Amino acid sequence: MKLIAIVGSLRKESYNMYLAHTIQERYKDKFELEIADIRSLPYFDQDEETNPPQAVKVFKDSITSADGVLIITPEYNWSVPGVLKNALDWASRVDKVFIGKPVMTMGVTLGMLGTVRAQMHLRDVLASPGLQARVLPPGGNEILIGVAQQKFNEQIGQLSDEETLKFLDSKVAAFIDFIKASNN
Ligand SMILES: Cc1cc2nc3c(=O)[nH]c(=O)nc-3n(C[C@H](O)[C@H](O)[C@H](O)COP(=O)(O)O)c2cc1C
Repeated sequence: MKLIAIVGSLRKESYNMYLAHTIQERYKDKFELEIADIRSLPYFDQDEETNPPQAVKVFKDSITSADGVLIITPEYNWSVPGVLKNALDWASRVDKVFIGKPVMTMGVTLGMLGTVRAQMHLRDVLASPGLQARVLPPGGNEILIGVAQQKFNEQIGQLSDEETLKFLDSKVAAFIDFIKASNN
């Protein structure tokens, strides 16, 4: 199984990127996880959507060929960062590569509410006509990691809080089941 992660932070020491790396390493016998290079995407420009720059083509192709997408993002000003929205805007046009694609959202933040507002906005965006992703339903499936500075080991760049890791195990397993059910 092949998954792709879109990480909404470009920061070198991003906790959200640390979570992506943790998932890449921890579940490598279950799936391969590629991390999309959204830094290389230019600003969305509707004049270019039918013949987009190469970085956009590569990004869209990697979504198309993935069995599922993990969107791992911090909360910026109660919503999703612009770099993530920009990537989704490119993906929502012309060949609309997210339609029916299994997606799981997760987020890490320093705040108390663990990206809850960002992920609520993200669900709305993913339901839009251009995206129509098949998002893992809420109701226990949300991965909302608050107070990140207490749960990550910055020396090794990994999530290290045992309780959170156990929770992650069960929710990643739920997403794998969801992908398999989507393919039937
Ligand atoms: C522009 C900006 C806006 C932010 N807005 C919020 C916010 O609305 N809620 C929140 O909990 N944290 C907010 N934060 C703090 C982020 O949670 C924190 O920077 C987090 O570490 C970002 O994730 P990263 O480590 O993956 O870069 C904001 C940070 C920035 C830079």
